[in-house]
Amino acid sequence: MQEICKLDELPDGEGRGFDIELDALLLIRRGEQVFAYRNNCPHRGIRLEWQPDQFLDYEKQYIQCATHGALFTIDEGECIAGPCPGEKLDQLRCRVEGGKVLVDI
Ligand code: FES
Repeated sequence: MQEICKLDELPDGEGRGFDIELDALLLIRRGEQVFAYRNNCPHRGIRLEWQPDQFLDYEKQYIQCATHGALFTIDEGECIAGPCPGEKLDQLRCRVEGGKVLVDI
């Protein structure tokens, strides 16, 4: 597990992108919980965001791909709308420990 950032550095209810060497990740914080995914849309295999750290839909209920608008659940990364229903984002094991966000990349 690798430390990606401090929990305090993630705004609650928002997403943030990180490029760690060759890995592009996104983290979404919900209270004390953090969900981690590879920044890779299963529809075309490209990055999800169009602007830095903009990973969520307007109502901040789903992860949204900026290219064709696929929506993914925040807790499981499952596509529930758009061009790739039923496909999933690649979820990474993640835990918060001592205020640090650790991810298995
Ligand atoms: S590339 Fe993400 S929905 Fe098409």
